[in-house]
Amino acid sequence: MHFFEYRDGIMHAEDVDLRTIAAEVGTPFYCYSRATLERHYRVFDEAFAGVEHMICYSPKANSNLAVMRTLAELGAGMDVVSEGELRRARRAGVPASRIVFSGVGKTDREISYALDEDIHCFNVESVPELEVLSQIAASKGKTARISLRINPDVDAQTHQKISTGKAENKFGISWADAESIYDRARNMPGLRIIGVDMHIGSQITSLEPFEKACILIGSLVERLRAAGHDLHHIDLGGGLGIPYRDSDPVPPLPAAYAEMAKRTLGHLGCKFILEPGRLIAGNAGIMVTRVIYVKRGDAKTFVIADGAMNDLIRPTLYEAFHEIRPVVAEDRGEGMLADLVGPICESGDFLAQDRILPQVERGDLLAVMTAGAYGAVQSGTYNTRPLVPEVLVSGDRFALVRRRPTYDEMIDLDSFADWQRLSD
Ligand code: LLP
Repeated sequence: MHFFEYRDGIMHAEDVDLRTIAAEVGTPFYCYSRATLERHYRVFDEAFAGVEHMICYSPKANSNLAVMRTLAELGAGMDVVSEGELRRARRAGVPASRIVFSGVGKTDREISYALDEDIHCFNVESVPELEVLSQIAASKGKTARISLRINPDVDAQTHQKISTGKAENKFGISWADAESIYDRARNMPGLRIIGVDMHIGSQITSLEPFEKACILIGSLVERLRAAGHDLHHIDLGGGLGIPYRDSDPVPPLPAAYAEMAKRTLGHLGCKFILEPGRLIAGNAGIMVTRVIYVKRGDAKTFVIADGAMNDLIRPTLYEAFHEIRPVVAEDRGEGMLADLVGPICESGDFLAQDRILPQVERGDLLAVMTAGAYGAVQSGTYNTRPLVPEVLVSGDRFALVRRRPTYDEMIDLDSFADWQRLSD
């Protein structure tokens, strides 16, 4: 569900004509719909009605400050994975008491900063991290609230690069060691155990892996409690998938996911922490790009646009499929089989391959759908292309919420070595 719809043949973001934004901001750009973000957040939140819960949005999916603020205003907490994300969350107005900190490689500096901020919970992913956290917290005279991220060794049946809950993945504490490490953590200075955590992967399109993992985690909570551990929450991580193409079967709805969580874990009386990212932001954003050339090659037709893999790397990195729609939908007869590619000097630079696109011409605007999650956050400046701008729409208003840097700003980050300076 999203608010990018055609009105009189022109795609709008809520009430704003995308051509207006393109004229003002230039292309390519990301465009987010505030109403869609809100709707996704509310649907997810309401699904957990009746049980104590905290939704900690994962800003790794989209960490634009204005997006984070939109969610913070709705009451969202955040699941951060770096000092940078923590700083963004605080700037977006998220109280530290609603922030959890995940990640396998928290540095001493990040731990120290998060302790100073007094965040709600550290999701600890290894024994060495536990030791460092204990030592830093104790030396500061503080107590870190912790949960251990347990790897339940469940196959999330998703793309291998975004599967995290199998024993061979780098994430979490192994299932077999969980209880002994909880026992160890109990006696370490500077730590207070408050929960259990897991996250098995992303873009998961069936409830089965979640249910398996929940049942396992539930049994672990029972054993840990029997061993005297005081556990207040279960953090289920994120991972619920979204539809990327109209022909995809619809992934489980938040209501079904929440029902499963309540059914498998509700009897434990724990608070749920949820870390959705894609589900909130994915369909709330698109990337708009302009066609530079249409090149009819011997073997293929290439639609060459100004948006490229540095702006949206998902197709290249995960063979991800994003619907491509014309901003101006007019009848130009039969579609054309083509690759939609960017200007970058790599054959891996594509946004769509072997796709039936409408007959496009130089200057046309195309919308790359479902790009609100893991789009702009994974963008870069390869080929010295400026970082892609971001726009937030609300009703009939729009705001540039990340501007395109100038070439000088980009190039000025570099400097010559002192032996190379040109004498003036
Ligand atoms: N919690 C943790 C600990 C995570 O590692 C992740 C995602 C999430 C929550 C949020 O998962 P979500 O609800 O968004 O599925 N760049 C990839 C996705 C990487 C996911 C990384 N972790 C992509 O574009 O598909």
